[in-house]
Amino acid sequence: MTKSEYNKIETYMLSQMQDSAHDKHHVYRVLNWAVDIYEHEDGVDFDILVAACLLHDIGREKQFTDPEKLNHAKIGGRMAYDFLLSLGWREENARHVKECISSHRFRGKKKPQSIEARILFDADKLDVCGAVGIARTLIYGGQVGEPLYIMNDDGNIVVDGGGAEISSFFQEYNFKLKKVYDSFYTKRAKKIALENKKAAVKFYSDLFNEINKNYSNGMKNYKKLLEE
Ligand SMILES: [Fe+2]
Ligand SMILES: [Fe+2]
Repeated sequence: MTKSEYNKIETYMLSQMQDSAHDKHHVYRVLNWAVDIYEHEDGVDFDILVAACLLHDIGREKQFTDPEKLNHAKIGGRMAYDFLLSLGWREENARHVKECISSHRFRGKKKPQSIEARILFDADKLDVCGAVGIARTLIYGGQVGEPLYIMNDDGNIVVDGGGAEISSFFQEYNFKLKKVYDSFYTKRAKKIALENKKAAVKFYSDLFNEINKNYSNGMKNYKKLLEE
C-alpha cells in the first residue's frame, strides 16, 4: 500500500469515528497491536491487515441508530468494501477486508477465518484487556448512563447478569472483560493479554473491596446513629 493510499483510508476512518470508547485512539492502538502480532506470524498480507484495522469500527455510528437490530461489524464490512472499491482496490482484496471486519466482534456469531481476520480480532480484543479495557468500560458505562454498581437487598454488589438493560461496571466485567482472555487465536496476543490481565484483576478486586467496606461500615454506622 502506498503512503497516499494509507492516508486516504485513514482520513475516511477519521471522518466516521465519534464515540469515545471506540474513537480514533482505539483504532491506532488496535493497529499497533496488530503490527506487533504480525511480526510474530508468517504469511500475513500486511495491506489487508492495515486496511482492516483502520476501518474495523467505521460502522459504529450507524449501529447507534438502532443497537438492537444493527451490527457494526456487518455494516462496517460493507462500508469498507465499497470504500476500497472506490479507491480502485481489486474486488477480492476489498472482499477480504470486508470478511475481516465482519468477523471481529466478540459477541458476534461469525468467527474469523483468515490469519488477517484473526489478527484483527485479537488486536481488537487486546484493547479490552488490562488497564485500558477497564478505563474504556468505565467511560462507555458513563456515556450510556450505567451505574458503577448495583446493590442487592442483602447489601452485596451484583456481579452477574451483565449485558442486560441495566448493567453496572461489575456486571460488564464479569460478563465480558473476564472472559476475553480465553478468546485469542494467536500465541503472541495470548501472551500480551495475560501480562496485562494482572492490572485489570487488581483494579477490579481493589474497587470491589473498597466499595464493600465503605457500604457495610457506612450502613452499620448510619443505623447506629438513627437508633441513638
Ligand atoms: Fe468493533
Ligand atoms: Fe474495535
